[in-house]
Amino acid sequence: MKRKPLIAGNWKMNGTRASVANLLEELTRAELPDAVEFAVCPPYIYLPLVAEQLAHSEMTYGAQNVCHLPDGAVTGEISLAMLQEYQCRYVILGHSERRAIFHESNDWIAKKVAMTLEQGLSPILCVGETEAERDNGQTMGIIQAQLAVVLQIAHNLANLQALVIAYEPVWAIGTGKTATPEQAQEVHAFIREQVRQAAPDYADGLRILYGGSMKPDNAADLLAMPDIDGGLIGGASLNAEQFLQIGQQCNKLYLSSTC
Ligand code: PGA
Repeated sequence: MKRKPLIAGNWKMNGTRASVANLLEELTRAELPDAVEFAVCPPYIYLPLVAEQLAHSEMTYGAQNVCHLPDGAVTGEISLAMLQEYQCRYVILGHSERRAIFHESNDWIAKKVAMTLEQGLSPILCVGETEAERDNGQTMGIIQAQLAVVLQIAHNLANLQALVIAYEPVWAIGTGKTATPEQAQEVHAFIREQVRQAAPDYADGLRILYGGSMKPDNAADLLAMPDIDGGLIGGASLNAEQFLQIGQQCNKLYLSSTC
């Protein structure tokens, strides 16, 4: 089954008002290839700017996190309703930086995934193992545990087709080391199988992105794998030319694939 690929930029905590405006201008000036969906996920504070500059663009956008509560006394947080006011489509959840720095647990992340789906937005749920876990042969066990809590509640969730999963090996994030296409494909196929067991109707349509030092010079080999449906791109998404190049490669592969 052909799934529309998603090339999503995770800007993390980067940019200034001026650099964001400039990046958006470069992105909106370009002609976007049809077969691929592009999205950018800026820091919260730049969402109004992104919403304004992308108002007439095909490019979608989202946030990098959301609060687990709908409103109230939660200092420093941002709610789903606030994201909806700015027409966000995506929310990155469970990124390894949030798991490591802010101690977000699988249960906590699953709760946010469920809320996000219920409100009609698309979570981009990140999963991935550390280098030590891979070296100890624990990769699949870690991925299974990260998915399990979400999948336990998944069959009860409306809007499950909106879920996106990103496989991001922690050792490949921001390091310049990339998983080989075969390593990534093995985990992507495993993820799809886990989803198939919990929610069989959604497995074939599920978009599974690869993230971790994806760049124009390694993207095509990764994106050519059958279960890799796009990329979650950090560093290279801050450069319009590189981000668009990855999308163009993805578009070419999609148009030439027959399955
Ligand atoms: P990177 O980041 O492309 O800079 O490795 C990916 C991510 O953390 O989402």
